[in-house]
Amino acid sequence: MIQIEQTVGTRIAGFILAGLLLPGVTFGQSIPSLKDTFKNDFGIGTALNNAQFEERDPKMTQFIVHQFNMATPENSMKSALIHPTWSNYNFEPSDKLVQFGKKHNIKINGHTLIWHSQLPPFMRGIRSADSVRTFFNDHIKTVAGRYDGKIFSWDVVNEALNEDGTMRKTVFLDYLGEDYVTEAFRLAQQASPNTELYYNDYNNEQPAKRAGCLALIKKIQAAGVRIDGVGIQGHWHVGRVPFKEIEESILQYAALGLQVMFTEVDIEVLPRNFQGAEVSQRMTANEQSNPYVNGLPDSVQQQLAADYEALFKLFLKHKDKVTRVTFWGVNDAQSWLNNWPIRGRTSYPLLFDRNNQPKPAFYRVVALKK
Ligand code: G3I
Repeated sequence: MIQIEQTVGTRIAGFILAGLLLPGVTFGQSIPSLKDTFKNDFGIGTALNNAQFEERDPKMTQFIVHQFNMATPENSMKSALIHPTWSNYNFEPSDKLVQFGKKHNIKINGHTLIWHSQLPPFMRGIRSADSVRTFFNDHIKTVAGRYDGKIFSWDVVNEALNEDGTMRKTVFLDYLGEDYVTEAFRLAQQASPNTELYYNDYNNEQPAKRAGCLALIKKIQAAGVRIDGVGIQGHWHVGRVPFKEIEESILQYAALGLQVMFTEVDIEVLPRNFQGAEVSQRMTANEQSNPYVNGLPDSVQQQLAADYEALFKLFLKHKDKVTRVTFWGVNDAQSWLNNWPIRGRTSYPLLFDRNNQPKPAFYRVVALKK
């Protein structure tokens, strides 16, 4: 532990010194860039909210452009937002996102075409297979078609599986049957031939869910439909990152000829009594549930740094198979984990703190390439 602290401390001092000694370079600009550090290995992405891709804060824009070469909209392309009523689409935010990507040379991953969560309110009233089919077809054709060749990739289907690997019960499964996933990829391929197509889920590195995910992918492939990659979201917990399962998953998904990407990486430090990222799951607050309001204890900070270092070591070991690593947020302030599964907590799951300053985990990750 002492050795770790010394190493991190030395590095931080080195970077501060570099910032002071280089004329005209402020400390912020002297921070190494993740995208440059890993430029020969894999893309480095972040989730972006509307304020970020609308460039409301120039300093934030500068920071994002310096660190990342790929981005995923955190919410704006979800069906409730992009397709708010039966016959109306709201493309304005997503068009701005596409512009942002073009201007700054950042590849955009569309998120997401078919997801049971954050559906438009009108879907609640739908009670016939015919209406669900119409929504499904129109939505994919219209949204995927609009951004064909303008965005780099789509999470075509998101979170279609249960933890035991069976198909999750959703409005799509209920009304369209098990083949809806293959059908979504078929429609996306037609509407968006120049965009890569991915399946995305959380916990799909865990053996049972992974088996279901492999079966789902094989089914799409057997139907002669294109699928280019699989996203492992990567919502993990400090001290409990499943490294063995992650490595097995990289190998098994890649063996199907797919790119593997880590699409929503964050490492939770706050107490939670279950794993994963099921947005509807909630916990009741108690006296112990928000322990780090005044800062993260050093022991947890160092464990977080060690976890991120080991994670990136693994990604680098398999860089021929891993094409992208995307963090779910630019910095700790933006993280959804401040509000899930309990609202109003203070979480620290990313590489940058609330002021976009690099944390020890950042320096440990970057040091892997020194
Ligand atoms: O925009 C409304 C605002 O008008 C309203 O006042 C406020 C009150 O609750 O809610 C705002 O919407 C929230 C939205 O985020 C934008 O901040 C929703 O309540 C909230 O549920 C939503 O949470 C998002 C969540 O997905 C649910 O869709 C998170 O930001 C987003 O990080 C999270 O991302 C998901 C991935 O898409 C899929 N994988 C899991 C991941 C984490 O849950």
